[in-house]
Amino acid sequence: MVSPQTILVTGGAGFIGSHLVDKLVKMGHRVFIVDDLSTGRLQNVNKQAHFIHASINNPLVDELIARERPNVVSHHAGQNSLTVSVRDPVKDATVNIEGSVRLIEACRRHGVGRFIFGSSASVYGEPQYTPCDEAHPIEPISPFGLSNHVVEEYLRLYNLLHRLDYRVLRYANVYGPCRDLHEETGLIASFISSMVRGKQPSIFGAGDHERDFVYIDDVVDAHLRAMEGGTVGAYNVGTGHSISVNDMFLLMKEVMKYRWGPTYAPQRPGDISRISLDTSKAKRELGWRPTVGLEEGIRRTVAESGRPVD
Ligand SMILES: NC(=O)c1ccc[n+]([C@@H]2O[C@H](COP(=O)([O-])OP(=O)(O)OC[C@H]3O[C@@H](n4cnc5c(N)ncnc54)[C@H](O)[C@@H]3O)[C@@H](O)[C@H]2O)c1
Repeated sequence: MVSPQTILVTGGAGFIGSHLVDKLVKMGHRVFIVDDLSTGRLQNVNKQAHFIHASINNPLVDELIARERPNVVSHHAGQNSLTVSVRDPVKDATVNIEGSVRLIEACRRHGVGRFIFGSSASVYGEPQYTPCDEAHPIEPISPFGLSNHVVEEYLRLYNLLHRLDYRVLRYANVYGPCRDLHEETGLIASFISSMVRGKQPSIFGAGDHERDFVYIDDVVDAHLRAMEGGTVGAYNVGTGHSISVNDMFLLMKEVMKYRWGPTYAPQRPGDISRISLDTSKAKRELGWRPTVGLEEGIRRTVAESGRPVD
C-alpha cells in the first residue's frame, strides 16, 4: 500500500493527464490540477481533484506550489500539436519551454520531491535505427520535438545545480478511450472521431509512415512506477513495434465495421517517417512493460468511444 501523497498534475483536463488523475485519486492521493482548458475539457476533470483553471505560465502556480507543497509534480500541460509547433513556434516555445521552466523553477524554490515530465519520442527526430533506445542521438526535426528536448535539458541542469529529482517519460503515440475526441488527441482518436461522424478519415502523406502505439493504461502504469522508482533521466514508454498509418486504418476499419476508405492530405513538415521505442531501460529499472496489445487496445478504445455512422 502506497502512502497518500500530494500530487500536482498539470494538464489534468487533457487526455493523458485526466487518466492519470483518475488513477491517482482512486489510489487515495490528494490531487491538484492546473489546466487552462486550451485543449482539455472540464468534463475530463475528476471531481475529487482540486482544479485550478490557470496557465502554467501564470505566477499563481508558484503560489499554489508554495502553499500545497506537492510531493510530486507531474507535468502534462503543453502545446501538443506538431502542426501548431511548425506554424507557430513562438506559441509552442511560450507554453512548452517558458511555461515548463517557470514550473521547474517553482518546484526548486519550494522543494518539490520529484518532477515527472511527459516528453515525447519526437526528441529523437528521424531515427538512425529502430527501435530507438534512450542513447539514440537527439536530433528533433520539429519545434515540438525541440521544445521537449529543451525541457529535458533544463531538468538535467536543475538536477546538476539544485539536485532536483526528476524522471522524463518519452512517450510514443499514446492512445485509449477519451471523452473528447478531436484531431489533435492523436491519430487513433482522429480516425474514430471521423468514423463515428460518417466522415472519411484523413491521412497525411502516403500513409506509409510508421508509429509505435502505446495504450493509456500502460502509460499510467509507467508513470506510477516512475513516481516510486528509477533514477534521474529519461525512459522510453512505447512497445518496440511500429505499424504503418495505412495498416492502422485497415485495423480500425475492421474493428469499427467502417465501410469507406481514407482521404490523403499533403505530408506534414516535421513528421518522422518511421519510429518505435526500445523500452528495455524501463523494464530493467522500473519493472515496467507494455501489457495491452494493439488489437485489444483498439477494441477497448472503440468500445468506449462510439460507433460509426452508416
Ligand atoms: N498523446 C500523445 O500521444 C503524446 C505523445 C508524446 C508526448 N505527449 C505529451 O504529453 C502531454 C499530454 O498530452 P495529451 O495527449 O494528454 O494532450 P492534451 O492536449 O489532451 O492535454 C494537454 C493539456 O494541457 C493543457 N494545457 C495546454 N497549455 C496549457 C497551459 N499553458 N497551461 C495549463 N494547461 C495547458 C490543455 O488544456 C490540455 O488539457 C503533452 O505535453 C504532450 O506533448 C503526448
